[in-house]
Amino acid sequence: MTLALRDILTRGPVIPVVTIDDAGAGPDLARALLAGGISVIEVTMRTSAALDAVRAIRAEVPQMVAGVGTLLDPERIAEVLATGAQFAVSPGLDLALVEACREAGLPLLPGIQTVSEAMAARRAGLDTLKFFPAKTAGGPAALQQIQPVLPDLRFCPTGGIGLSDAGDYLALANVLCVGGSFPAPTDAIRSRNWEAIRNKAAQAQALGG
Ligand code: 3PG
Repeated sequence: MTLALRDILTRGPVIPVVTIDDAGAGPDLARALLAGGISVIEVTMRTSAALDAVRAIRAEVPQMVAGVGTLLDPERIAEVLATGAQFAVSPGLDLALVEACREAGLPLLPGIQTVSEAMAARRAGLDTLKFFPAKTAGGPAALQQIQPVLPDLRFCPTGGIGLSDAGDYLALANVLCVGGSFPAPTDAIRSRNWEAIRNKAAQAQALGG
């Protein structure tokens, strides 16, 4: 069953953006996040283990909604879908990628950084966007100023966000959730420190009140 992007983005306040070196760690990582209350994960396609990790998560921890991040090329959509991935994230707006994902039935969350890019995404029929890199692109103040001019758009700011400032984004009317590595930092995944990740996930989840 295909989940709608907005349903995925409203499952909790934070989507962990994770980098996995060893696909075998994927299911344990997913279980640790679930134990902390988080039920969506974005696995960046920046390691050779990423797609195998998503496949393992989907097979062994089906309660976890799993997607891929850093999707750049339409040529990779078929192998992404073959893992069972339920959504994809791209760092920027590439209309060819948007169209290819739409044709393939893969929900895509593309990144935008400017009002012009947001307008182009809206023109392409999108209403749910990543705001990236959130901190350097103006942070919560930028999203607050975008809201009145593009009130139909909703955002998942990502990039440079931590536990201490996530709430500033989540307080905005046009923010559905934030993305970030802070619930599952790469070093904690590498050292398989599942207890630390469960605790960080619970802290992140608590941002949702
Ligand atoms: C990434 O590039 O992995 C995401 O933007 C999240 O990274 P960060 O939360 O560490 O900035």
